[in-house]
Amino acid sequence: MNLSAPAVGRTQSEAETEAALRVVAMMIARAEPCDAVLRAVAAQAARRFGPATADVIRYERDGRTTLVADSTHGPLAAGWGSRLPAGLATSVLRTERFVSASVGSRFTAASPVHVGNVLWGLVAVGSGHALPTDTERRLAELAELVATAVANEQRKAELTASRARLVAASDEARRRIERDLHDGAQQFLITLELRLRSLAERPALLPGIRAEIEDIAAELSDGLDDLRELSRGIHPEILSKGGLRLALRALARRSTVPVVMDLRIHSRLPEPVEVGAYYVVSEVLANAMKHGRASTVEVEAETSDGALHVRVRDDGVGGADLARGSGLVGLRDRTEALGGSFAVDSPRGEGTTVFCRLPIATMSA
Ligand SMILES: Nc1ncnc2c1ncn2[C@@H]1O[C@H](COP(=O)(O)OP(=O)(O)OP(=O)(O)O)[C@@H](O)[C@H]1O
Ligand SMILES: [Mg+2]
Repeated sequence: MNLSAPAVGRTQSEAETEAALRVVAMMIARAEPCDAVLRAVAAQAARRFGPATADVIRYERDGRTTLVADSTHGPLAAGWGSRLPAGLATSVLRTERFVSASVGSRFTAASPVHVGNVLWGLVAVGSGHALPTDTERRLAELAELVATAVANEQRKAELTASRARLVAASDEARRRIERDLHDGAQQFLITLELRLRSLAERPALLPGIRAEIEDIAAELSDGLDDLRELSRGIHPEILSKGGLRLALRALARRSTVPVVMDLRIHSRLPEPVEVGAYYVVSEVLANAMKHGRASTVEVEAETSDGALHVRVRDDGVGGADLARGSGLVGLRDRTEALGGSFAVDSPRGEGTTVFCRLPIATMSA
């Protein structure tokens, strides 16, 4: 596709225009980043109106405007600086309609961009030549593309935010269940066990009864261990209290496969990041024991470039497949919900490596 500027002094033909619009529409369909689409619109606007400059401008809540894309790479109009008059943005804000103006030999026009029913911003062009009579229609087509790209980006951001909220809500529920088990059922059973043990120490008991009571107390104690293990799986208390480093070390201690840890985490991280990383290591360790038949596992975690990077590698049989269970898929969903990424590399016979990146910066808000 030839996107080079047409010869100076000539606006695009309809065919050229259509082809260029299709290119931008394809970028939107491929879900390319919004700022790239808006730059393409600005460049396209500058070409469409002969030698012209073009800006895509957003209104902010505080009444100011932000230039989000311009045609600095497009052809500059003769006698035209790179900035458009501020009055243009004000006029569009007031009227929410197409506006055009000319001052001396400078011709400007702008179309509002509505996203949903809300005035989002404008697409503006300026030229040293009179603008064509169908400028309003042509500019409106570009404004429509901007609106589509922005709406897509807003939907994507809303989806990411709602996934993150779901993860946070489910973590909160798990923590509550863990607290209830700890403060309620566990304490109750511990008291019962103590009562049984002191009962068993009474001198006047028949030997058979004493043995029976001791048996019951021992079973209660086993049940309590199970309950503790269960509540640890629901939400590890050590994670909230001691942070990720301690919680990962506790996981390693309980693992039946020897674990080598290299943790370069020097401070507490936002809770969703700590919880996410904990679940990743916990599940991948369990998989290494259960499926990998590994003899060692290496766990590396470090914070760099605004993210926590976790890598867990086992030397087992390989061949992990996300489609065959819910553990790895759940980790991928959780990680992506937090704006991160998750990957598994597991060639048969060569062990399994799981990588996970959890952004920190966006989480602290
Ligand atoms: N470390 C590993 N080594 C070899 N195979 C693995 C490893 N991890 C996972 N797999 C394979 O990939 C599949 C998917 O793993 P996943 O953790 O998603 O599910 P699962 O462990 O079978 O069940 P769940 O985690 O839901 O209890 C496993 O069934 C297993 O066949
Ligand atoms: Mg699993």
